[in-house]
Amino acid sequence: MELAGKRIVLGVTGGIAAYKAAELVRLLVKAGATVQVAMTEAATRFVTPVTFQALSGKPVFSDQWDPRVANNMAHIDLSRQADVLLIAPASADFLAKLANGLADDLLTTMVLARDCPLLVAPAMNRQMWDNPATRRNIAALREDGVFIVGPASGDQACGETGPGRMLEAEEVLAELIAHFQPKLLAGKRVLLTAGPTFEAIDPVRGITNLSTGKMGYAISRAACEAGAQVTLISGPVCLPCPAGVTRIAVTSALQMHEAVFRHVAENDVFVAVAAVADYRPAGFVEQKIKKGQRSSPPTIELVENPDILAEVAALPVPPLCVGFAAESENLAEYAESKRRSKKVPLVVGNLIQDGFGGEENTLILFDDDGQHPLAPAPKLQLARQLVARIAVLLGKR
Ligand code: CTP
Repeated sequence: MELAGKRIVLGVTGGIAAYKAAELVRLLVKAGATVQVAMTEAATRFVTPVTFQALSGKPVFSDQWDPRVANNMAHIDLSRQADVLLIAPASADFLAKLANGLADDLLTTMVLARDCPLLVAPAMNRQMWDNPATRRNIAALREDGVFIVGPASGDQACGETGPGRMLEAEEVLAELIAHFQPKLLAGKRVLLTAGPTFEAIDPVRGITNLSTGKMGYAISRAACEAGAQVTLISGPVCLPCPAGVTRIAVTSALQMHEAVFRHVAENDVFVAVAAVADYRPAGFVEQKIKKGQRSSPPTIELVENPDILAEVAALPVPPLCVGFAAESENLAEYAESKRRSKKVPLVVGNLIQDGFGGEENTLILFDDDGQHPLAPAPKLQLARQLVARIAVLLGKR
């Protein structure tokens, strides 16, 4: 029940994506929210108010002059108690009205008269989205503090493909949950490493590992949701950069080391999630190594990579350092020994068999107060719990 007790006013505007709003209401109610739906007249042509009324359990409003509102102030009354006003789908026309402060129907008047945050989920054809007028309107809305969620890219109702499609209902829900996260790291700067490193042997070969980067990316996102300014130094992975996070792509451990030390001084927290290769080939072979040109198989001499986390923790004034210990056995013993040897206040331990590479994980946090086990959960939820612990430790510094 991630939205328990939250009051959401959902504005639905006229577009084919209005059908997604019906599913969205169901998900919001399931997540514990109270949902009041208001529609534009055009939206009622796509999905009837009866559908939204049945899903939300509340009467739906679309008319500014609705006689059901005693004082004729529907635009004020409906949004007064809301924690957030969400417009999904938000048509190009509606966004244009918002950007210019027009208020010629119930929904636009309600937006103008609100005293709560506004999120909009645009939905339109890709050319409408790319149109300079829409670009201008979106920029103006951002400037006004409106949160724009999406749009996604993909197949469109008009048969074209491109950006402009409304996010799926589950994605809008995720954005809303993110919006409600407590701003525990407001004003803080967080630096992270994530993913594997790739240590080149020759132009086509190298040493790497199976880290997917998912946990590091989830923590970046959670830190960003918590109000931090986040820099993510990422090894080679196939994940989209979370919105609001600054990503620096690197390949090898030495590049990661260099990027971390370029940024570490500005940061309050350093979270080392990357599975950094402990060793790299002593030399890079410029041309592709050919088999059969030697009498015995080649050997690769290895040299040790710098331990990025240990070096950051050893700085005269280190940021709050968080390390990871992914082990296949004796988790508590190894995690505690890493915490001591690298001199980091917090180590996040997990058993590889519990979540390596997957969507879920089971973690134990090790710090001066002892062990804090986190129940198995999706990585983003665990990341939010880790961020909460980081905020507590920052408070104790
Ligand atoms: N780490 C790092 N730089 C390295 C190696 C590791 O920053 N060159 C960080 C990782 O990001 C992680 C922690 O240190 O936070 C993991 O410690 P490490 O001892 O390297 O883990 P393993 O390689 O798994 O250790 P071991 O081989 O002892 O099991």
